[in-house]
Amino acid sequence: MVTPLLELQNIAKSFPGVRALNDVSFTLERGEICTLAGENGAGKSTLLAILGGSLVPDHGSVIIEGTVRQHFTPRQALADGVRIAHQEPAIVPQLTVEQNLVLGRTSRQRRDAGKDIEQALADVAQMGFPLNAKASVRGLSPAQRHALTIARALAFGAKIVALDEPTTSMLEHNVEGVLNRVRNCPHPRGGYHLRLT
Ligand SMILES: Nc1ncnc2c1ncn2[C@@H]1O[C@H](COP(=O)(O)OP(=O)(O)OP(=O)(O)O)[C@@H](O)[C@H]1O
Ligand SMILES: [Mg+2]
Repeated sequence: MVTPLLELQNIAKSFPGVRALNDVSFTLERGEICTLAGENGAGKSTLLAILGGSLVPDHGSVIIEGTVRQHFTPRQALADGVRIAHQEPAIVPQLTVEQNLVLGRTSRQRRDAGKDIEQALADVAQMGFPLNAKASVRGLSPAQRHALTIARALAFGAKIVALDEPTTSMLEHNVEGVLNRVRNCPHPRGGYHLRLT
């Protein structure tokens, strides 16, 4: 049997007064494109924060390529190839487009990032937002910021990419550009829909 790329097993997470996630399990195979659906407050962003190592679940396991990650941190998630484009774009307005693309990389990785930056900018353009690498991010619209974070998530050897409501600020033709880019991942295949309630 092929080991799944990702397994989330029996994840539970509560905040004071709120049970955000209760026994959620999720499996992702290589190339699989899945939808996570649920109304406002259903726990989608909370689950993705756990996948990105920035929230620790109360119960349950994150298993990446068969290895249980006991103390999963953002650094470990990055090392495991997990990339998340958060609902609120994590962009530093004082920096340029290019500098934002390599946020979180070591100086060596930044030096070697030329091709990935080029690809990310091509992806952003394909979504309908031609951006200049040297431009400041300060003046970008919410849709452009989302496109930048999506392209960043898809670049740099990503293995598992999660997009958290990335197209809410976009027009229809931009949304189509994002979906086309997602369908262009290596060996894409239809996944399933997980509904959180
Ligand atoms: N840091 C936090 N502190 C307290 N409660 C939180 C925190 N983060 C999320 N919650 C609560 O957990 C529940 C799940 O929130 P979450 O943001 O994961 O939902 P969502 O499905 O992403 O919703 P939306 O569609 O509005 O983005 C909500 O009741 C929310 O208020
Ligand atoms: Mg959310």
